[in-house]
Amino acid sequence: MLRVVDHPLVHDALATLRDKTTPPELFRRMAVRISLLLAAEATRDVPGTPVDVETPLGPAPGRRVRGNVVVVPVLRAGLGMLDAVLELIPSARVGHIGLQRDEITAVASQYYSRLPGDLGASFVLMIDPMLATGGSAVAALDLLRVAGATDIRMICIVAAPEGVALVEQRHPDVHIYTPVIDDGLNDHKFIVPGLGDFGDRLYGTH
Ligand code: PRP
Ligand code: URA
Repeated sequence: MLRVVDHPLVHDALATLRDKTTPPELFRRMAVRISLLLAAEATRDVPGTPVDVETPLGPAPGRRVRGNVVVVPVLRAGLGMLDAVLELIPSARVGHIGLQRDEITAVASQYYSRLPGDLGASFVLMIDPMLATGGSAVAALDLLRVAGATDIRMICIVAAPEGVALVEQRHPDVHIYTPVIDDGLNDHKFIVPGLGDFGDRLYGTH
């Protein structure tokens, strides 16, 4: 299930992320800003409980996010989105999945996984900025499924049609939140026009 988040503030941050002259410091700030906006959209139906609070003028009804949210960054680039999600949901538990795409074949292999328990009863938000071939996303979603997750949303910052199609085929019940679907992939399986290598731009490792 695809949800294209079309918001002027999202596109403004995305334009800075795409700009090849944007240095890592600004790139990191824009990654946080766009992730805040995308996460707000992806958590529209996060479970809540009614509460009563006292304002200076009297009682008011309110609603609190219920505790069972798990956010899962796909390392390394997904870490650039984590602080934004935790700013919105400080009580979220965090799982980590480490995946690395081979530079020649673009096939993702797993080097790390540490997930919280009770995923079956959790609202799971997987965060990975680039959905290119979809190989990394499907590998991460497979792991989450095996660990018991059923209610999963994934947030990315740029998606390619190939990646969206693969996730929709292999995990049709996962909601994909993205601001944009780009034209496609080049010969090296990079998204075109995309923004380049997200992890390298985030951490200055070109
Ligand atoms: C990037 C990105 C995704 C993956 C997307 O990670 O963060 O995880 O590529 O490509 P795919 O859809 O074709 O699998 P990368 O493997 O470059 O690792 P990094 O985050 O450590 O830089
Ligand atoms: N990973 C990236 O960082 N960028 C792409 O375009 C594809 C995969």
